[in-house]
Amino acid sequence: MNKKWTLEQVPSQEGRVAIVTGANSGIGYETSLGLAQKGVEVVMACRDLRKAEEARSRLVAKCPTAKIKIRKVDVSSLREVRDFVNQFRKQYERLDLLINNAGIMMSPYKVSEDGFENQLATNYIGHFALTGLLLPILTATPRSRVVTLSSLSYKWAEIQFDDLHAKEGYSRRKAYGQSKRACLIVAYELQRRLAAAGYDTLSVAAHPGLCKTNLDQYFPALIRPLGNLFLQTAKQGALPVLYAALANDIQGGEFIGPDGFQQMRGYPTEVDSDDYSKDEQVAKRLWKASEEMTNTYYLGA
Ligand SMILES: NC(=O)c1ccc[n+]([C@@H]2O[C@H](COP(=O)([O-])OP(=O)(O)OC[C@H]3O[C@@H](n4cnc5c(N)ncnc54)[C@H](OP(=O)(O)O)[C@@H]3O)[C@@H](O)[C@H]2O)c1
Repeated sequence: MNKKWTLEQVPSQEGRVAIVTGANSGIGYETSLGLAQKGVEVVMACRDLRKAEEARSRLVAKCPTAKIKIRKVDVSSLREVRDFVNQFRKQYERLDLLINNAGIMMSPYKVSEDGFENQLATNYIGHFALTGLLLPILTATPRSRVVTLSSLSYKWAEIQFDDLHAKEGYSRRKAYGQSKRACLIVAYELQRRLAAAGYDTLSVAAHPGLCKTNLDQYFPALIRPLGNLFLQTAKQGALPVLYAALANDIQGGEFIGPDGFQQMRGYPTEVDSDDYSKDEQVAKRLWKASEEMTNTYYLGA
């Protein structure tokens, strides 16, 4: 893997199409900008169209050649995910890159419209359904990739199979950790299933280290400004995501994060994760539970 990988090393990606969820802010915005700078047509998949339009204006001011489309999707709603995919499949014949990025962190307890704990619904379940519903167009596109955002916080929790939706007691921190662990486990499992089925679509997990973004919106107002002192920028944090999406030495099944101290900052490199995240029995159990929750069945093992 190259040291100090940057976008400058990537050739033109003209003709390719990407979906970025949560593209109006933070890492999703910077990832969209980076892809657009390389000629990728980017579908900014956002829940708030006003914020998305404002983000597109900012992006186009920086990259006047950008090809950007905006589409509405609240990923915590399976109904909206299905509507989004139906619309996308009517309008596009290829999907090169699916960036499963949208997320919330340590939000107050809330149940999604489908009856799921809302951090799990937003960060993980909606993206599981989105990926499955887009699989036919992904696998029909040569060398396509699914990049899924996890986090160093995956270590905060294991999967609570007996109480996935925290009905027996809610911890904001554990619910976030569980959702990001689920993202990581299933990114690995997706790669195993794609390979077993003979597809050349790759699944890669990525984490951005620690970045100053709106992800801290549920933190106390007094401590939020402290992030400016020690967190890296969203632009730097998007590099592992862009690497996972575009670098030519990706094989599938990697976890990409920053190379600096404790993976908190730096340039993209392959990183390891704990044994539980790589446990194939846990992955199969989570996949099955996710298929049942979403009524979206794909890549049956
Ligand atoms: N920042 C970090 O240090 C860090 C570290 C590890 C992992 N991550 C991961 O990076 C990803 C991006 O986070 P960020 O730091 O860039 O935070 P951010 O600035 O808050 O961006 C999050 C994006 O997700 C969108 N979003 C939230 N809920 C959504 C929903 N239900 N449907 C559709 N979009 C939704 C937000 O839209 P609105 O603007 O409408 O709210 C926003 O566009 C997340 O998956 C997060 O877990 C971040």
